[in-house]
Amino acid sequence: MYPENLAVLLLLILSFISSGKLCMWRSPINALEEEYFLLCCSEGPRVEGQVAHWYKEKEGKQVLVHRESRIDLNGTNLQFWPVVLNDTGIYDCCLSNGIQEKPCKKWSLNVVKRDKNNCFTEEHVHTGIVGVVGKSYFFTCSDTDDSVNVVDLTWYKNCVEIVDKRGKEKWHIDQLTEEDGGKYTCVKTVVHAGKRYNSTSTTRLKVKGTEENVTPKLIGPDHNVFKTEIGKEEILNCTVFLGYSKNFVRFQYVFYWIESGVIIETCQKSSSLCQMEEYEYDKDGKKHAVSQLWFKSVKEEDINSLYTCTFTENKPITQTFILQKESNPDLPVHVFTTGMIMAIMFSFVAVMMVILCVIFKIELFLLFRVITGKDETLEDGKLYDAFVSYLKDSTPICGEERKFALEILPKTLEDHFGYKLCIFERDISPGGAIVDDIQSFIDRSRRLIIILSRNYISDQVMFELEIGLHKALVERKIKVILIEYTPKSYFDFLPKSLELLSSSQVVKWKEEKSLPLNSKFWKKLRYAMPAKPTMSAVCQGVTLQDRQKRTSAFCITPKPSIACY
Ligand SMILES: *[C@@H]1O[C@H](CO)[C@@H](O)[C@H](O)[C@H]1NC(C)=O
Ligand SMILES: *[C@@H]1O[C@H](CO)[C@@H](O)[C@H](O)[C@H]1NC(C)=O
Ligand SMILES: *[C@@H]1O[C@H](CO)[C@@H](O)[C@H](O)[C@H]1NC(C)=O
Ligand SMILES: *[C@@H]1O[C@H](CO)[C@@H](O)[C@H](O)[C@H]1NC(C)=O
Repeated sequence: MYPENLAVLLLLILSFISSGKLCMWRSPINALEEEYFLLCCSEGPRVEGQVAHWYKEKEGKQVLVHRESRIDLNGTNLQFWPVVLNDTGIYDCCLSNGIQEKPCKKWSLNVVKRDKNNCFTEEHVHTGIVGVVGKSYFFTCSDTDDSVNVVDLTWYKNCVEIVDKRGKEKWHIDQLTEEDGGKYTCVKTVVHAGKRYNSTSTTRLKVKGTEENVTPKLIGPDHNVFKTEIGKEEILNCTVFLGYSKNFVRFQYVFYWIESGVIIETCQKSSSLCQMEEYEYDKDGKKHAVSQLWFKSVKEEDINSLYTCTFTENKPITQTFILQKESNPDLPVHVFTTGMIMAIMFSFVAVMMVILCVIFKIELFLLFRVITGKDETLEDGKLYDAFVSYLKDSTPICGEERKFALEILPKTLEDHFGYKLCIFERDISPGGAIVDDIQSFIDRSRRLIIILSRNYISDQVMFELEIGLHKALVERKIKVILIEYTPKSYFDFLPKSLELLSSSQVVKWKEEKSLPLNSKFWKKLRYAMPAKPTMSAVCQGVTLQDRQKRTSAFCITPKPSIACY
């Protein structure tokens, strides 16, 4: 007998055993829950008068197994219709011919939980003998007792039905290929007492490649497209798998490149497009050969030309290559879009910030003062924050303006914002040279507040105005704040120099609208006034402990000084 035939015979025998023989001697035996399953005691022909007794071991004792609805004793076989998880255990079968008992056989039965998502259950898969590429392989479905009624038999490979093997108990593959490897499942359906039961068996087939029996193969796709740029050096690689390094038998082959039906020359000193000398290398136990096509610098005419790499041993195998121009050499599209979106968002945010800053310039400025606690009034040797100039002795006395200058203005600036004002009528006692007084008081003030109203025309007031404006515009000693109590268009008699005041120094009084503390009027006025922490800010500055020690009265603005001395 030839060794090859012997191997086939051996395979046949082995696969027969491995696929679940009727009377299994293997232990433990795995059975799938909810399936038909049988244990058999003796395979031989039935002997007259022979009885089989089955025992299950429970807590170290052997308990006789009785026939019941789910468990059947047929001859020497123990049948489960179906087997359930709690049937797991050790079983003993003892044959007796009525006179003496033969030695008992012992099985360990393990019932496996079914994988409901799959046609097989991983724990129930057994590994068959390894197949070899080019050799035959035999499949046998699990055996069943002759007495059972088989109504269906289905084969699956990796859970896909092998349609033409339906109903076949045994079949085989003539010449295995590597693609034949996988899990083969056989489902046998039997009918018992009017109900259908399945019996599933799964074999894992591994296929081993033979080193001798490979044909060379080009590595990579049949058609290759590479992106390149004009003027770039480029190398195209064509690699062939020659065989396994172990026991590699050298053979003759030809490797070459073709363009438009012409074989490309091998590289010489002057070449600009040529095939380089091929070479072989070993990697992961495999032998490869490489042929490379070299472009000294890619030209316009090389783009979109078809280059064919051909490897010939018996019959030629080919691979094609095309060079294409890089369409967008700079940024990948997603980076570009992300960048654009970010840039647009940032500029939008920046524009919004600028707009907000313009709109809320004064608010931000005042907030900044509060946060930094800036105080411009320290150490400049001045007594007052502002000298207030308004109508005084002119007639008739306009009640409204008087009220504004003597009540509303000082009440707000002094009581709420902690400024100290000098108001001639209120603070300066009569007597003394008025001119000198006014001059010295303006000198001792940080701002000159001029309240412009229709009645602002007395000589003295004009005089104050002149001094103040002179100091502001010529000597640059004092800043002027103009409060337009009535619109300026009424005053053509006013000095032209008033026109030179910047808009930030002009504050318009809008009666009711300007009354609340958070109105635009007060904000603008405070903006023009020197920075001075308000009392509330001062209070925020002191520590909590300090604050607790003092009375809350501390936080109330000190009374404005009565006299300007
Ligand atoms: C075993 O089962 C077969 C078929 O179901 C039946 O014909 C036979 O009588 C049974 N034998 C015993 C001993 O129960
Ligand atoms: C085993 O399971 C079956 C079916 O679920 C049940 O009828 C039987 O009583 C169980 N036996 C034991 C010992 O738990
Ligand atoms: C038996 O297996 C078949 C598929 O081969 C399936 O359709 C059927 O539902 C199974 N029956 C039982 C009772 O598990
Ligand atoms: C071919 O291989 C060489 C290295 O041997 C490499 O520099 C070159 O980029 C490869 N060509 C391509 C198109 O991948």
